[in-house]
Amino acid sequence: MTLFVIGKPVKHSLSPLIHNYWIKKYQLGLEYKKMEVEKDLLASLVEKIRKGKITGLNITLPYKKDIIQYIDEISHTAKDIGAINTVFLRKKKVYGENTDGVGFTRALEKKTKFKFSNKSIFVLGAGGASYGIISNLIKKKVRKIYVANRTSHKTKQLINFFQNKNKNLNLEFVDWKNLVPTSDVDLIINTTSLGMNENESLEIDTHNLREKVIFVDIIYNPKETKLLKLFKKEGFICMNGLSMLIEQAAVSFELWFNISLNNKDIEEVKKICEASY
Ligand code: ATR
Repeated sequence: MTLFVIGKPVKHSLSPLIHNYWIKKYQLGLEYKKMEVEKDLLASLVEKIRKGKITGLNITLPYKKDIIQYIDEISHTAKDIGAINTVFLRKKKVYGENTDGVGFTRALEKKTKFKFSNKSIFVLGAGGASYGIISNLIKKKVRKIYVANRTSHKTKQLINFFQNKNKNLNLEFVDWKNLVPTSDVDLIINTTSLGMNENESLEIDTHNLREKVIFVDIIYNPKETKLLKLFKKEGFICMNGLSMLIEQAAVSFELWFNISLNNKDIEEVKKICEASY
C-alpha cells in the first residue's frame, strides 16, 4: 500500500523524506511517494482512497481547495480554513483534514514555550497558509490579530471571512506599504512566499517592538530568508518553517496510523531534513 503527496510542483517536497523515516521506524511496510498531477486526476485519486487502494494523501499547492469537492466528509478545521492537506478513509468515508495550522502552533509552543492565549499577533499574508494559521490562532484565544497583505482587498476578504463567523474577533487591517508593528505585538509571522527567492525582502519598521518578540517565517528553503536574517540581527527570537512542516506531517501521520509521535521522532526527522538541503 502507498501514500502520496500530490500537487504541482512536488519535486522539492520534503514530505516523502519525513514520512518514510517514520514508516520505517514503526515498521509499517508502506511507501510514501510524491506524484505531480493535473487537476483532472484529483477525483480518481480520491476514488482510490475510497476503494482502499491508496492509504492516504497529502495535498499541496495548488489543490488544497480543489480537492474538497470530491471528499465525503471534512473536519470543522478544514471547513473553517476552506482547504485540505490530509485525506484518508475513516468509517468507510473519505475524510479530509487540514493539519497546517495546528502544525504551526505546535511547533512554536514546543520550540519557544510560547503561550498564545491573550497575545497580539502580526500576520503577513492572506493566502491559504494565512487562513490555516489564523484559524488556529483564533482557537488558541489570542487577543488580537493584525493582518497585512500585498493585495489589500484580500486582507479585507480574510478579515470578513473570520468576522462573519464571529463578529467579536479582534482582527485589524494593516496597510502593506506601512508595516510598523506596534509595541503590543508578541509574535510576527510571515505566511507569504516572499523570501523564497533569496533576494526578496520587505521593509518592516521594528522600532516599536519589545525585545521578547518572536519572528516566524513559514518558509524553510532558504533556511533563513532575508526577513528572518533581519529580525535575527536585531536580536529577536526567530524560527523558520521547517518545524511547522514536520509538525503538520506528524499530525497527518497520527491520523493515518493512529500512532502518536514523540519529540525524539520529530527531532530525528528534523536533523535528516536539515542535512538534505
Ligand atoms: P499559500 O497557500 O502558500 O499561502 P497563496 O494562497 O497563493 O499560497 O498565497 C500566497 C501569499 O503570498 C499571498 O498572501 C500573496 O500575496 P498576494 O495576495 O498579494 O498575491 C503572498 N505573496 C506572494 N509573493 C509575494 C511577493 N513577492 N510580495 C508580497 N507578497 C507575496
